[in-house]
Amino acid sequence: MEVHQVFLMNGGSGETEAMQVQPKVMEVPHVLHMNGGCGETSYAKNSVVQNKIISIAKPIIEEAILDLYCNTLPKSLAIADLGCSSGPNTLLVISEIIDTIHEKCCLLNRPSPEFQVFLNDLPANDFNSVFRSLPAFQDKLRQEKGAHFGPCFISGVPGSFYGRLFPDQSLQFVHSSSSLHWLSQVPPELDISTITPLNKQKIFISKTSPPSVIKAYFEQFQRDFSLFLKSRSEEIVPGGRMVLAFVGRRTADPTSEESCHQWELLAHALNDMVLEGIVEEEKVDSFNAPYYSPSPDELKSEIEKQGSFALDQLEVFEVDWDATNGDDGVSEYVQSGISKLTSGQRVSKTIRAVVESMIGHHFGEEIMDDLFQRYSKIVDQYMSENVCKYANLVISVVRKA
Ligand SMILES: C[S@@+](CC[C@H](N)C(=O)[O-])C[C@H]1O[C@@H](n2cnc3c(N)ncnc32)[C@H](O)[C@@H]1O
Repeated sequence: MEVHQVFLMNGGSGETEAMQVQPKVMEVPHVLHMNGGCGETSYAKNSVVQNKIISIAKPIIEEAILDLYCNTLPKSLAIADLGCSSGPNTLLVISEIIDTIHEKCCLLNRPSPEFQVFLNDLPANDFNSVFRSLPAFQDKLRQEKGAHFGPCFISGVPGSFYGRLFPDQSLQFVHSSSSLHWLSQVPPELDISTITPLNKQKIFISKTSPPSVIKAYFEQFQRDFSLFLKSRSEEIVPGGRMVLAFVGRRTADPTSEESCHQWELLAHALNDMVLEGIVEEEKVDSFNAPYYSPSPDELKSEIEKQGSFALDQLEVFEVDWDATNGDDGVSEYVQSGISKLTSGQRVSKTIRAVVESMIGHHFGEEIMDDLFQRYSKIVDQYMSENVCKYANLVISVVRKA
C-alpha cells in the first residue's frame, strides 16, 4: 500500500451540504466545472476536441516558450496554466513546455531551469483527480529526463482568472486553452427575472435575439477580457509571454451560425421538452449561457485598449465538432469505445461533459440523460446537412516593458 496515495480524510461537509439553499441567480464561479472523475460522462473521457485544439496550437506555444527562454536563459521558470480542468489534457501543455525547454537546454549544454508550475481552475474543479495524477507525472519526468532535470514544483491554484491569482511579477509564461470563452457571469441585463424575458426560447445569442441581448453579451466579454488582461499584466514580468486559445468566430456577425449553432441545437432539445411538459417554459426563457466567442477584431481591439501586451501572433483555425472524424491521433479514445457511437452522440458527450454543471443546476439533474439523448439526435440530423466546425482563436502576446 502506498500510504501517500491511500491516506485521505473524509471530504465534504456531510449532511449540511444537502441543506444548502440554491442561489437564484447562477453564480458562475461556484457552479461551473467540467464533469469530474473518469466515468462515462466525465471531461476526462470526453475531451478529444480540446486535446486536438492543444495539438494544433502546439507550434505557437513552442515558439513563444523558446523565444522567452533563449532571450532570458532563466535559472527558474514560473508557468501557469489557466483553466486546467482534470483529465488527460490537464498536464499535456505543461509536459510539452518542459520537453521543449529540456531539449533546448541539452542542445545548448546548459542545466535545465527549475520549474514552478501553477495549475489554475475554478474551485469546483476536480483538483483531487489532478493531485492524484501528480506523483506519476513527476516520476515520469525524472525517469525520462534524468537526475539533473528540474526540479519541477507543481501546485493547484483555485480561483477565477477574472481577477488576481498570483503575486506581482511572479510569472514568466501563462497558457490557457479552451477556457476563455467562459464569461465570469451571465450578462447582468439578462440575469434579472423580468415578466417579459429578453431572450425567449433561447439560451445564448441567436438570430432572433434582440440587439439588447447581443450588446449585453459583447459588453460582458469586454469587461471580462480587459480584467483578465489587467490581472495578468500585474502578474507577468516584462518580456513574459502568454498564449491563449479559445473558441471564437471568423465573422464579425455574433449571430452567425458558427458562433451560435451548438447552443441553438441545445435550445431546440430543451424547447421540445417544454412542448412535452417535461421542462417549464420559464426555465428555458431564464437560462442564458455565460459564454462568448469573440471575433479576431474584437480581441485585437481589447488587447490594444488595455495596452499592457503586444500582440505577436493571432491565428484562426477550425476543428471538427466530431474530432474523431478521420483522425488517427485519437486512437486512445477510439479504443475506449467512443468509435461505436454516432457523431451526434460523440458531440453530445463532449458538450455534456462541459455544460452539465450549469444546465443541471438550472434545469435539474434528473433531465440530463433525456436532454442529451435528444440533443445527440438533433446534432446527428444537423451534421448530416451541414459542415460543422468550431472556429478557434489562438493568440501569442508579450508583456510590454
Ligand atoms: C473546457 S475546459 C478546458 C480544460 C483544458 N485546458 C483543456 O484544454 O482540455 C475549460 C476550463 O476552464 C475553467 N474555467 C472557466 N472559467 C474560469 C475562470 N473564470 N477561472 C478559472 N477557470 C475557469 C473551467 O472550470 C474548465 O475547467
